[in-house]
Amino acid sequence: MDAITIAGGCPPLQGSVAISGAKNAALPLIASALLTGGRNTFKNVPDLNDVRTMAKVLEAMGAEVSGKRTLRVATSSIDKLEAPYDLVRTMRASVLTLGPLVARYGRARVSLPGGCAIGARPIDQHLKGLRAMGAQIEISEGYVEARCKRLRGGLINCDIPTVTGTMNLMMAASLAKGRTTIENAAREPEVEDLARVLNKMGARVYGAGTAEVNIEGVDELHPVEHAIIADRIEAGTFMVAAAITGGDVLLEGCLPEHLVAVISKLRQAGARVEAAPGGIRVRGAKRFAPLDITTQPHPGFPTDMQAQLMVLCCCADGQSLITETIFENRYMHVPELNRMNADIQVNGRTAIVHGRRQLSGTVVMASDLRASAALILAGLVAREGTTTRVRRVYHLDRGYERIERKLRKLGAKIRRVKE
Ligand code: EPU
Repeated sequence: MDAITIAGGCPPLQGSVAISGAKNAALPLIASALLTGGRNTFKNVPDLNDVRTMAKVLEAMGAEVSGKRTLRVATSSIDKLEAPYDLVRTMRASVLTLGPLVARYGRARVSLPGGCAIGARPIDQHLKGLRAMGAQIEISEGYVEARCKRLRGGLINCDIPTVTGTMNLMMAASLAKGRTTIENAAREPEVEDLARVLNKMGARVYGAGTAEVNIEGVDELHPVEHAIIADRIEAGTFMVAAAITGGDVLLEGCLPEHLVAVISKLRQAGARVEAAPGGIRVRGAKRFAPLDITTQPHPGFPTDMQAQLMVLCCCADGQSLITETIFENRYMHVPELNRMNADIQVNGRTAIVHGRRQLSGTVVMASDLRASAALILAGLVAREGTTTRVRRVYHLDRGYERIERKLRKLGAKIRRVKE
C-alpha cells in the first residue's frame, strides 16, 4: 500500500497548478450516459479511482467504456440493470445509476449503499422522489428494486437538499411523461453541470442551480459530447496550501463563482485571493485571523472543505469555531491533527480550534478523502526537520489527481512511497 511523506517547514509554494475536472460532476455525467442509447464523450475527466469504479459499474451493465481524460461511454448494449453490492460498497455514488435505469429501462436493482466513515448517508429522498414519479420501490436483500413502465412527472419536495438525490431525480424526470418539479433542490455547481449535459442530450431542465428545478419530460435522449467543469474542492485545497505556506499560486481553470464561501473565509483569515486571467491567484500571509465556519449546502461553506480549513485555523492567531452541519461524523481528522500537536476539541457538531500551534510531523492515518488532504496540508506547515507520513492513501486517490506531483511542482517536498 502507498503512503505519502511530506517534509515540514515547506517553503512558500510558488507557480501555477492546473485544476482537474470535478470528480463530483464526472460521476453523475457518466451515469447519465445510461439515459441515451449511443456513444457519449466526456472531456476533462479526472484520472481517479472513483471514476474507474463508475466505469466498472456501467461496464457490469453491458456498457463499453474507453479512454481516460476523454472518456467514451457507449450504452447501446445495456443488458443487466443492476449495480451490485461489491461495487456500490466501494463507491456510494454508484446509486446515481438508479434514476437513469428505471427511467430508460423501466426497472433497476441497485444495492443500498449503507453508511460510510463520515455518516449514515441514507438515500430516502432519492426513493421518495422516484415514488412520487410513480415508481414501485421495494427493498429486498439489501437491494433497492425499482419498477415503472414509464415514470410520470410529479411534485417532489425534498426534506433536505441532497446533491446526488437531486441529480438522480433530474435524470429520472428527463425521460418521465410530463412535468416534474423538484423543490428544495441542491444548488451545487455539479448539479448545474449535469443539467447542461441533460439539456444537450435533448432534455428540458430549467432552474438547475436554484432551489427549484423543473423538468419537462421527453420521449428520448441522444448521446453528447461535454467537457466537465473544474473541481472546486481540489482548487480550494490548493488555495489553503498556498495560503498557509505564505505562497503565491495561480490555480488554472477554476471559477471563482464556484468558490465564493471558501474565498470569503480565506480573505477573512488574511490571505489575498483574486480572480486572475484563466483562474484564481492566492497569496498567503504571515499571520492569520481566527475563523468561525459553519458548513452548509451550496452556496454556503462546503463540508468538503471543512477539514482543510481546520488546518489553517491551527495556524491562526486565536480560537476558531467550526460547525459541521451536513455529516454527523466528519471530524475523524481531529485526533490525527492533535497527534501532530494541534489543539482541537470537538463538542458535538462544533470543533474548537486553538490557534498559534506549531504542528509537528508524525505518522498519521487517513480516514476519508478530505481528511487525507487536510493531513497533507498539516504536513506542509509542520515544524522544519519533521516528516509527516500519511497512511491509507487509497482514500486520497479516490478524489485527488496526483496531488503529490502537483504540490511538488509548486515547491513542496512530498513523495509517494510504498509501504
Ligand atoms: N441525506 C438524507 N437522505 C437522502 C440523501 C441525503 O438524509 O436521501 C442527508 C445526508 O445523510 C447528509 C445530507 O443529506 O446529511 C447531504 O447529503 P447529500 O445527499 O447532499 O450528499 P451526497 O450526495 O451523498 C455529495 C458529494 C459529497 C459531498 C456531499 C455534500 C458526490 C458523489 N458526493 O454527496 O462528496 O460531501 O454531496 O456536499 O457528489 C467528497 O467528494 O469527498 C464527498 C463526500
